[in-house]
Formats: sequence, structure tokens, C-alpha cells
Amino acid sequence: MRAMTYRGPYKIQVADKPEPKIEHPNDSIVRVTHAAVCGSDLHLYHGMLPDTRIGHTFGHEIVGIVHEVGPSVQNLSVGDRVMVPFNIYCGSCFFCSRGLFSNCHNVNANATAVGGIYGYSHTAGGYDGGQAEFVRVPFSDVGPSVIPEWMSSEDALMLTDAFSTGYFGAQLGNIAEQDTVVVFGAGPVGLAAARSAWFLGAGRVIVVDHIDYRLEKAKQFAYAETMHLAEQDDIVVALKKATGYLGADVVIDAVGAEADGGVLQHVTGAKLKLQGGSPVAANWAIDSARKGGTVSLIGAYGPLVSAVRLGDAVNKGLTIRGNQAPVARQWPRLMEHIKAGHVRPSELLTHRFPLEHIAEAYHVFSAKLDDCIKPIITIGEE
Ligand SMILES: NC(=O)c1ccc[n+]([C@@H]2O[C@H](COP(=O)([O-])OP(=O)(O)OC[C@H]3O[C@@H](n4cnc5c(N)ncnc54)[C@H](O)[C@@H]3O)[C@@H](O)[C@H]2O)c1
Ligand SMILES: [Zn+2]
Ligand SMILES: [Zn+2]
Repeated sequence: MRAMTYRGPYKIQVADKPEPKIEHPNDSIVRVTHAAVCGSDLHLYHGMLPDTRIGHTFGHEIVGIVHEVGPSVQNLSVGDRVMVPFNIYCGSCFFCSRGLFSNCHNVNANATAVGGIYGYSHTAGGYDGGQAEFVRVPFSDVGPSVIPEWMSSEDALMLTDAFSTGYFGAQLGNIAEQDTVVVFGAGPVGLAAARSAWFLGAGRVIVVDHIDYRLEKAKQFAYAETMHLAEQDDIVVALKKATGYLGADVVIDAVGAEADGGVLQHVTGAKLKLQGGSPVAANWAIDSARKGGTVSLIGAYGPLVSAVRLGDAVNKGLTIRGNQAPVARQWPRLMEHIKAGHVRPSELLTHRFPLEHIAEAYHVFSAKLDDCIKPIITIGEE
């Protein structure tokens, strides 16, 4: 089959690879029709994850058609159109039984924190991802879900990660009615978080970034106020001013490890990889939240990050919450919103590339060219 393969930082290639096979009775093989590229894939593309091996296939946002099922699979049949959550999980361990699907204990021998993620290096279990013609889906009775007739494949694709993750970020913010919610990062995840904040009762939503076209999208898609980093001497002071000098009730970090805005942190975190990323956005989140407020961390970080404003977080009495999103938990509610016409997550998709041109998709998305918000890879016939 044809598959995206990693060759080294900033180098990817489409190559021939053996088709995946059923390895466990509850596996299935999905023929991929759509796969998205995520901001998290950019961390891999930039060489930030330590155990990213040559030849690994990325891709954790997957929609496709069930091609083959293992002997114990009961919930899927060949020919079903399915959406596959980005997390791989067993569904029955201590953590899964508490809904912590992204922290499953049975799927990633390399770590005790994060569970398994498709196409996310051996740091997240070493599973090949879905930017390929076929993908092996372990624990098929637990993760994937048949897409209802009325839902488009592109909306379903957005639920496999980005939109559900944004909604989850808003949930982690403990939003109370009329709260002011600040979102750092106007990528697909931040835009989804900003839009979702209204569903959860926010009274005001402010999105912060330094890319004009993305801030424009924050106005149109998320009905948010915006602040441009380059237009503020000090973004924290500006946010304080905008919130009666108290700070925001809820601040969501949808930027993560590669945040711009702090030269030393960016160089040591994102460039030299001496630490698990730059905490600039997380620190701004801590600083711009009001005392007693909540900071929701959904941007991705490596395990060890220095110079985090922990003391300020403690002394302000902040609640800090974070996780990889257990996206299937958000599906029932989000599907109701989509069905009722409240939101169309696929409005965040700006670019569509065939698999053979996937290197261009990564380049355009990474360099934020051509007003790109989120690209998808169209792979096979529906
Ligand atoms: N927790 C999860 O389950 C989960 C799931 C998906 C993605 N993520 C993470 O969420 C983050 C965002 O993903 P995305 O797909 O939206 O990525 P993206 O790269 O498209 O968006 C990031 C945005 O942050 C902006 N930015 C950079 N520095 C900033 C700063 N200091 N302040 C404000 N904005 C800043 C960039 O200009 C960009 O628009 C990534 O770190 C990704 O790994 C986490
Ligand atoms: Zn992702
Ligand atoms: Zn589990």
C-alpha cells in the first residue's frame, strides 16, 4: 500500500509499505478515505518527539471503511463507514473504566502517562497511523464508531481529534455561566475550544494569536473577540485590562510546546530540545487567569519543562487541568450539536491534498501558508 513515511525532521515521503494485518482477534483493518494532519503531527514533523523512527507512518485523525475484522469483533462489520478516535485504548483497565481513555494502561509499554496514539512515534506506543491506504485498528469493539448516515465524513473526521479536543479543553475549564474565557492559540484546536466555550455557558470569549487570518477565523467561526500578540506590549497586561484588572475566569492553552513569544524558552524547548517545550503560553495562561480561576492545558508538552510559573499558580489558587482528550467521551454531545445544526466542525478545514502530495500538506500547514487552518488528506473512495 502507499503510506506517508517519516524520513527525519521536515522530511516525509510517500512510500510502499506492506498492508497491515490482523494481529489480535479484536483488531480490524480500515481502508482510509480521509485522514487529517494535526498540530500534534507538526511536533513530530519538527523532530520534537524522541522516539520517532524512520519509516513510521503518522496520522491519528482517521475516517474510513472497515475492510476486514478480526474473529472477536462484534460492533463493526466489513463495509461500515467509521470514525476512529486518535487514542488507542482497551476499554476495560482501571483508567478506561473511569473514562480516561487517553491514559489506558494496556496499550503503551513505553510510558505510564500517555496511552497509545495512532502514528505518534514509539513514545506513544509505536502504532502506525492512518495517513496511508490502510490502518490496523486495535480494540475495534471499543474505539471506533459507525458514522451515522446524516453526518458527513469531514465532520466525523473533525471529531476524531481537533473539534472534540477543543470541546474537552472548554470542559476542563470548569466554565460557569457568564464566565470570561481566554483561549491562547487560534489553530483548529483553539478555535474549537473558543466555539465550544459558548456551548458551556461562557459570557465572553477572547482568542489570542499572532496570525491575522486565524484571528479572523476566530471572529467568524468562534464569534470571539481577538487579541493580536504583535499589537500588545504585554499580552498579560492587555488581558488584565480587558477583564477589569481581575484576569479571566478561565484560560485555555491551545498552543503547547512550540509556543512563540519567549526567545530563550523557544530555543531551549522547540529548537535545541533541552526541555519538553516552551512554557510561554502556559505561563501566560497562569498569569492572565484571575485568582481562583481555572487553567486548562490542552496544548501538548514533553514530560519535563522548566521555568513554569508554579508558585504563581499555587498562590493564586488556580485549578490547573490537562490531558490528552479522551475524544469518544465528547462524541455523543457533539453529535447532537452537529445534528441540530449548531455547529459544523468541517468549516475549519481549509485544504485538501491527495496522499501523494502529503509533503506539501505538512509544509503548508507548518509554515502557515495560504491561510491554512487545517489540511486533510483524501485517500480512498467512500
Ligand atoms: N490534548 C490533546 O488531546 C491534543 C489534541 C490535539 C492537539 N493537541 C495540541 O494542541 C496544540 C494546538 O494544536 P493545533 O492543531 O491547533 O495546532 P496549530 O499549530 O495549528 O495552532 C497553534 C497556534 O498557536 C499559535 N501560537 C504560537 N505561539 C503562541 C503564543 N505564545 N500565544 C498564542 N498563540 C500562539 C500559532 O500561531 C498557531 O496559530 C498543539 O500543541 C497540539 O499538539 C492536543
Ligand atoms: Zn491530533
Ligand atoms: Zn485501558
